Amino acid sequence: MKNNMADLEIKNLHVTVNGKEILRGVNLEVNKGEIIALMGPNGSGKSTLANVLMGNPDYEITQGKIIFKDKDITNMSPTERAKLGLFLSFQYPSEIPGVSVANFLRTALNSRRRDKISVLEFRDLLKEKMKLLNMKESFAGRYLNEGFSGGEKKKNEILQMAVLEPEISIIDENDSGLDVDALRIVSNGINLLKEKTGMGVLIITHYNRILKYIKPDKVVVLKEGAISNVGDHELATRIEEEGYEGNIMIGG
Ligand SMILES: Nc1ncnc2c1ncn2[C@@H]1O[C@H](COP(=O)(O)OP(=O)(O)O)[C@@H](O)[C@H]1O
Ligand SMILES: [Mg+2]
Repeated sequence: MKNNMADLEIKNLHVTVNGKEILRGVNLEVNKGEIIALMGPNGSGKSTLANVLMGNPDYEITQGKIIFKDKDITNMSPTERAKLGLFLSFQYPSEIPGVSVANFLRTALNSRRRDKISVLEFRDLLKEKMKLLNMKESFAGRYLNEGFSGGEKKKNEILQMAVLEPEISIIDENDSGLDVDALRIVSNGINLLKEKTGMGVLIITHYNRILKYIKPDKVVVLKEGAISNVGDHELATRIEEEGYEGNIMIGG
């Protein structure tokens, strides 16, 4: 137990999209070295929360705040958040013609470093990270997101995480149909980075499938824009068996 504030703290967050209140007072904490799974039925506001955490300006925060490492980041740009050590999935651009995965990652890393890394140094770093993640080297030469499957996009995200070594990562599985290979690379990557760098993770998912590979320290259920239940990984199992309906009460 630590008595200071959590590394990432979401406090009484209310969010409106197109005039409709989607998040209605969300409170959530994520610390370094811990994996929090945010689950919930379709339309409960999971991706809205991910968007707000990444600083998407389409989402209006009407109440509450987001604190990261004692700094109020509620109104910070995505770039500023990333520089502080927050990693947000789908912060990478959807497709940049002619930019390879390797070049994109080097640029992303250099934007966070005072001393720029050289092409050669980066090549070694990338090789090491890809080996760690069990990825084929040819992946680095692919053009960013060009013809990427959902699984390849996620792999790219994990590689980006390994290179940037963020303190806290927010990953929206986004109901993407990850194949088993991608699911393994993604979950092994998350487990490894947590172990090696003490990264904290908020993984957002509708299904408990990925939670068979990643053991969350805590499972939090979002329902109709508010946290309805908190439990351990057994809550995810229960949700799989019984659906969301029977698991909506806090405490129990
Ligand atoms: N950009 C948007 N414009 C309009 N409505 C949105 C937008 N984003 C989310 N919503 C609405 O907010 C609610 C929650 O959606 P979302 O956050 O995607 O849920 P989840 O990821 O849990 O399935 C839904 O009713 C959805 O229609
Ligand atoms: Mg979603």
